[in-house]
Amino acid sequence: MSDQQNNEKKLAGQAAADLVQDGMLVGLGTGSTVNFFLHSLGNRVKKGLKIKGLPTSERTAALCHELGIELTDFASVDKLDMAIDGADEIDGDFQMIKGGGGALLREKIVASAADHVVIMVDGSKRVETLGQFPLPVEIVKFGHQQAERRVQELGIPYAMRLVDGEPYVTDNGNYILDCQMDSIIAPAAMHDQLNSITGVVDNGLFIDLCHTLVVATGDKVEVLPKG
Ligand code: A5P
Repeated sequence: MSDQQNNEKKLAGQAAADLVQDGMLVGLGTGSTVNFFLHSLGNRVKKGLKIKGLPTSERTAALCHELGIELTDFASVDKLDMAIDGADEIDGDFQMIKGGGGALLREKIVASAADHVVIMVDGSKRVETLGQFPLPVEIVKFGHQQAERRVQELGIPYAMRLVDGEPYVTDNGNYILDCQMDSIIAPAAMHDQLNSITGVVDNGLFIDLCHTLVVATGDKVEVLPKG
């Protein structure tokens, strides 16, 4: 990651932390931009901000513990006031690819429970057409070869996500196929097609799940409402 991209992530994270208000229940995403956001949020909590966070990964939960951010879970809450997360790609309609960090399923569950979803990105994440970034598809371990065959039948090149030569396992105990589409012309249709494969748990296309985009380009930060 370049210094500029890193700086933009930090600026976007800081600006997003300012959107959180006292008393809110906040969904907390996953990734390097989220880490910057959590540090800013943690500073506000130390100064007296009262919020509860619902984390989208074990990594985010661990960082929240370090930063003193109180957490909750879906056994205790139904709706969230806000969810704040990063993205791998976002287009002009605010449709997204997420899941580069492997947390797509919990991120989608959390975003779907939020009244308002804020996405923070550095300038490089904005694209005209989704698909250059490999689309993550989370599949169950049992019979994963079958799900892979169905993806193959759709003519989609994919690779099993690996760590040290072994399949990467999500926080939910599943595998991830990274699908190289290059260009996803109809994201909503592709989302539904992939999710109709038995064994696919969910995929990283986030359709109509962003209300506000916080984007940093150079030293400039913009907060853009959808539409
Ligand atoms: C995590 O699973 C992803 O959805 C992240 O939100 C996304 O990959 C963005 O990550 P960075 O903030 O690290 O670029």
